[in-house]
Amino acid sequence: MSKRVKIFDTTLRDGEQSPGCSMNEQEKLEVAHRLERLKVDIIEAGFAIASPGDFRCIENIAHAMKDVSVCSLARCREKDIDAAYDAIKSAVQPRIHVFIATSPIHMQYKLRMSPEQVLESARYHVKYAASKCADVEFSAEDATRSDPEFLAKIVDVAIKAGATTINIPDTVGYTTPAEMRALFEYLCREVPDSDKVTFSTHCHNDLGMATANSLAGVLGGATQIECTINGIGERAGNTPLEEVAMALKVRKDVYDAYTNIETTQIYKASKKVYTIIGQTAARTKPIVGKNAFAHESGIHQHGVLANKATYEIMTPESVGISKNEMVLGKHSGRHAVDAHLKEMGYELSPDELTRLFEEFKKLCDKKKEVTDQDLEAIVNHSNISAADDANLFEFDRFDVHAGNFSTPTSVIRLKKEGETIEEVALGDGPINASFKAINKIVNPPAHSFENFVIHSVSEGNDTLGDVMITLKRGDRRFNGHGLSTDIIESSIMAYLSAVNKLIKYDNEQKNA
Ligand code: KIV
Ligand code: ZN
Repeated sequence: MSKRVKIFDTTLRDGEQSPGCSMNEQEKLEVAHRLERLKVDIIEAGFAIASPGDFRCIENIAHAMKDVSVCSLARCREKDIDAAYDAIKSAVQPRIHVFIATSPIHMQYKLRMSPEQVLESARYHVKYAASKCADVEFSAEDATRSDPEFLAKIVDVAIKAGATTINIPDTVGYTTPAEMRALFEYLCREVPDSDKVTFSTHCHNDLGMATANSLAGVLGGATQIECTINGIGERAGNTPLEEVAMALKVRKDVYDAYTNIETTQIYKASKKVYTIIGQTAARTKPIVGKNAFAHESGIHQHGVLANKATYEIMTPESVGISKNEMVLGKHSGRHAVDAHLKEMGYELSPDELTRLFEEFKKLCDKKKEVTDQDLEAIVNHSNISAADDANLFEFDRFDVHAGNFSTPTSVIRLKKEGETIEEVALGDGPINASFKAINKIVNPPAHSFENFVIHSVSEGNDTLGDVMITLKRGDRRFNGHGLSTDIIESSIMAYLSAVNKLIKYDNEQKNA
């Protein structure tokens, strides 16, 4: 009989903690909602002890999720476990994820503990976590570089102490599929009571083998895969959820396993995460890249026209890419827009639809034809900007003058609590001048400029420009998004949004 593989999503923990992938509270909540629609089994929402902000995010997600287990990471420390439990206790199915490193190099240099001390710490802390929460996962960090006999011993200890899931991470992306399969087979064979717990894989992609290693783990006995949307994560990333979910579906003949993933939600979840972190998929990225279902060469096109299966092992529709493109315009009413969004798989609340429809109408004034990509970008952006509720400064208007023989000048007008404030500044270019004018008005706390990316949403020279800006203060990052057919306007909106978040955070720190 086919075995059920649980999907443990760690986009909001292992994914989010990597550079360039940070998200704010609202953004994390939005991703969690997407994950719930995707029907993942467990959401690892963060590392509760890391900061009060992380704690709050996990708590909010635990509260908001109706149908999915919510988990927090904890080191083998009582205070980590206390914080993890406090953050997840309102979840429908709370889980504490306790970890400790087990490889010789980590034990000696990172933990400065002997193997006996590590065993004892795992025993004590898993038991402590199990006294608070019925569902406890134990991870042996750097398991694939650990002594297999020691690994079997600590897994046995963790099971006896109350762990219900045992995770075997390939923390540094070092192992190979053959090794991974053999390791799971060995543990399932050697550890008493191994059949009473769930074995889990957690792979990193340093050698580009995370997907293959995770699937090999399934062949060896794992029934949980830890992964992230788009494979975001430390260094080269984690196992991409979309790849393992589709591999198990398309190659059921090999793996004889299935997940609960609603695969038609994959593309939307991927887009949402990319929009939030200001990135786009490489064209050739499996499942979600622009070329993943494109057939350009004549031979391929000929084959696909004769029979799709000649070059297509799965359909774009199966991952939620709608090929039923419809062009909307200024004569399209709210009803038509709503109906088309539903066809694209977006179910909006009446409030969300009102917000989106306003943006749609504004766009129709600037662009004759609004495509699916435009609509998708507005959906993702209108949620993000609705999340930026407490904006201190609101954008009103701008006026720039620029040319290669004149000094770029920008006049910016913002609103603050009903009052209008205007400033003018010169700069190296119209965007730089605009940012300087904004700074004159808002006087932001000291920060550095970490990232500025512009993507075109669709093809054609009237495309929407999607801008994301990341500002950094200390080790905190603040993302701002802007969307407009005018890239100066989207840059201003993105910068102002990031600055608003920076000011809000700074005020909270002062009042704390
Ligand atoms: O990669 C890793 O080892 C981890 C653990 C904390 C599970 O992320
Ligand atoms: Zn990891």
